[in-house]
Amino acid sequence: MSTGDVGRGASRNITSYGDAGFSRYLRGAFLGAAGFDQEDLSRPIVGITDLTSDFNPCHRALPSIIENVKRGVLQAGGLPFVFPTASLGESFMSPTTMLYRNMLAMETEELVRAQPMDAVVMLGGCDKTVPAQLMAAAVSDVPVVLDVVGAMTTGSWRGERLGACTDCRRYWARFRSGELDQTEIGEVEGSLATTAGTCMVMGTASTMASLAEALGMMLPGGATPTSPSGARLRHATQTGRRAVELARDPVLPREILTPGAFENALHVLAALGGSTNAIVHLLAVARRVGVAFSLDDVDRVARQTPLLVDLKPSGTRYMEDFHNAGGVPVLLRALQDRLDLTHVGVSGRPLRDLVSRTDPPAAWQDVIGTLDRPVGAAGALAVLRGSLAPDGAVLKVAAASPRLLQHTGPAVVFDSPEDAAARLDDPALDITAGHVLVLRNAGPVACGMPEAGSLPIPRRLAAAGVKDMVRVSDARMSGTSYGTVVLHCAPEAAVGGPLALVRDGDLVCLYVAGRRIDLLVDEDELARRRGSVGRASLPARGWARLYAETVLQANLGADLAFLTAAGPDDPGAAG
Ligand code: FES
Repeated sequence: MSTGDVGRGASRNITSYGDAGFSRYLRGAFLGAAGFDQEDLSRPIVGITDLTSDFNPCHRALPSIIENVKRGVLQAGGLPFVFPTASLGESFMSPTTMLYRNMLAMETEELVRAQPMDAVVMLGGCDKTVPAQLMAAAVSDVPVVLDVVGAMTTGSWRGERLGACTDCRRYWARFRSGELDQTEIGEVEGSLATTAGTCMVMGTASTMASLAEALGMMLPGGATPTSPSGARLRHATQTGRRAVELARDPVLPREILTPGAFENALHVLAALGGSTNAIVHLLAVARRVGVAFSLDDVDRVARQTPLLVDLKPSGTRYMEDFHNAGGVPVLLRALQDRLDLTHVGVSGRPLRDLVSRTDPPAAWQDVIGTLDRPVGAAGALAVLRGSLAPDGAVLKVAAASPRLLQHTGPAVVFDSPEDAAARLDDPALDITAGHVLVLRNAGPVACGMPEAGSLPIPRRLAAAGVKDMVRVSDARMSGTSYGTVVLHCAPEAAVGGPLALVRDGDLVCLYVAGRRIDLLVDEDELARRRGSVGRASLPARGWARLYAETVLQANLGADLAFLTAAGPDDPGAAG
């Protein structure tokens, strides 16, 4: 095979042997062994990420989706090269996929940089994959188009429509309270996740897919087709074609991820009543491109924009209903007065063009509302501050109990998720429905910030009919969860944050209207306690060690400090 012009793609990022000609000659030889000739190698190369894994059932349909992206790339005159990255299956990783989000982001960033490709299609889906890919895309020097595997379709049990994982949690709570027996919960288990695809409520996967589209990093209409559908495959083919156009006429992600893009995404997040996890992920992506955006912006936008989409856990429907009602394009049309319509994403067209070609929410459907006729009031998400969270905490108001939004109660403190699992159901635990469950040492530094914040209602209280209690922690919760759950308290207990100072019986005051979460203990007493609280010890080795040494707090996105736009000098690194 000639070592001459083998196309820009294969000639990119040549391997360092100290002789560029030799590097190209060797690469040509090995590509020839894979069946590629001069005609192939004259084409732009489009990398396609492959996150299939037997440990990630959500991605089961990915092989056929990849085939469709490849077909689109070939149709447009490009050369598709599929390459594997880590696959993060939400319920298959310990202690939490969040510990590995930054690892996938770093791996994806490095593989795109190191391998010869002129553009890349990043295909994700399950919770942390899309955030990781957005973080990698943010620092990519080649064009990136995201697409997703899509949501599952719904199941059914005894005539009731079911979906993962809001209904998983609801039925598990009923099993814990004794309403369901072992046989019944077994039947429910078999009916919750019935097809390939991601959780079909507005959990983190659905939220992040929708936000990727709102940010302009995905072609319009990509967030909502279900995983088994033909629409999902057709969108993949379109994505492949568009990636070739971008390889020839590049627009880089950092040109798309503008302040306007994040502002648009925040309005969409509020309108969706989306996952609280999305706040951490958006903060991380913004910090990678140096866009100034903080928890205050989340609260500001959430106060302005009402809930417009009726999906669980805030509402009643599922992703396939959202798709059938028009999906994100119709939602953007409904939100157009709040959006930066000059924004241009991977489609190459201003958002103004997209919304002008899209019908408003149709009269025949009741899944997507309008600003005049919203599904729910503004304020679906709230950012809290106070003596328990000086740097911020978040609450999904839309999934909370209205009667608990102003509540003061004595704390019952758990020192870790393991401590909570061991003692919550202990009949000797002195607890009433008015207590506040406090969980600490579940933040980023402590253990990667697992989704442990929505602690179950203690079995004895659940059996007595208690459905919700105020819970406060430095953990996250699943986007599919519900309840009056204050999350992401920063700084976390493991770095000396105020959660570390709480003792059983201390009064905790939640006042959502005032955006406050406070520990009602006087400052002299807290100063005395501070003297006996140290920082957590770090993991001994490996990724967990690097993570704990360099991770930022939740209010800054929980990225590794040296991966942000400011790098190792990121001001948050000192925390
Ligand atoms: Fe994969 Fe919910 S477990 S998206």
